[in-house]
Amino acid sequence: MWVRNAWYVAAWSDDVTNRALLPRTIINEPLVFYRKSDGSVVALEDRCCHRLAPLSKGRLEQDDLRCMYHGMKFAADGRCIEIPGQAFIPQAAAVRSFPVVERGSWIWVWMGRATMADSALIPDTIAATDTGWQIKTGHLDYAAHYQLINDNLLDLSHLSFVHAKTLGRNMPQWAAQRPRITRLERGVRFQRWFENRPHAHYFGQPGEAYDLWHSYDFIVPGIFIQRPAWYPPGTAMRMDMQPPTEPPLFVRCDDQAVIAETERTSRYFYAVGARSSDATVELADEMFRFTEMAFHEDKDIIEAQQKVIDLDPTRQMMSLSFDAGPNLFRGIVQQLVEGEIRDPEPIPGPAPAMDLAAAQGN
Ligand code: FES
Ligand SMILES: [Fe+2]
Repeated sequence: MWVRNAWYVAAWSDDVTNRALLPRTIINEPLVFYRKSDGSVVALEDRCCHRLAPLSKGRLEQDDLRCMYHGMKFAADGRCIEIPGQAFIPQAAAVRSFPVVERGSWIWVWMGRATMADSALIPDTIAATDTGWQIKTGHLDYAAHYQLINDNLLDLSHLSFVHAKTLGRNMPQWAAQRPRITRLERGVRFQRWFENRPHAHYFGQPGEAYDLWHSYDFIVPGIFIQRPAWYPPGTAMRMDMQPPTEPPLFVRCDDQAVIAETERTSRYFYAVGARSSDATVELADEMFRFTEMAFHEDKDIIEAQQKVIDLDPTRQMMSLSFDAGPNLFRGIVQQLVEGEIRDPEPIPGPAPAMDLAAAQGN
């Protein structure tokens, strides 16, 4: 089950050049990305309309793309503009083109109906090139259904256990306290204060305690926008446990995207860092290294979870109070998917499957 009318992260800016074709699969759609000579990014269906060979095995000819099976040539808008040895080009000789927006270091692609591609729906992420921030970017490939990765990010209680030696060190509160959860139009917001939490590896001194304002949004299809902010002890109480109105001591950035590729493969993009006023390049590098270590801990448990689920997909999960966020978000996704199925004007491409139990029995 996946939403099609949504912006998906396709790649980091550096991954797309005008010298190479970048194949990517997103929600079971094969796509090929490249840059035109004016620098803009093109996303075409990676499936020649002739014999369905991947265009990513083709050849760039200025801004056009030639299939290197039998030589059909396609313009950047997907129209076929040349068929070797055949003067007549049928109107149906075309591949689908997808709306693309490059914002900062993020390349977004709209997988649904092109007329609905509203760039105002792109979440407000921080770019690696933003001088106000020291940010590093990366990605991990998962052999797991994207919903399991979303669930993990929608319930950070796992920090106390999965990340007991990294991000959740000395912090049983991640599991012991519940965040305030608010439904957004296309996502969920989580907010809470942690009072008197010990220093982190990237901020504070051993033996000192801080108040941490922890707030993040999780937006369809799986975009995580987090800005944890550190304050002197006593701030949470002074704010009456409401959102802070005072300048923080330290702010980190975690912008991430969980992107479904197929039913069992996903790509996890992440940008990690802190404000330039808070972190040197060296500290940002260390934060990235440490956080990436934690992301491997997530990958380890989630891929193992997927293997167990696949042994008996009829087994149901049990919902606990941890799961308020994951359940709310799954409901939002389900509503959007059902709306797309009811839509009388079909979205091009494979129909969205109603396999609500694809990852597990829920
Ligand atoms: S498969 Fe592309 S031209 Fe034949
Ligand atoms: Fe995690």
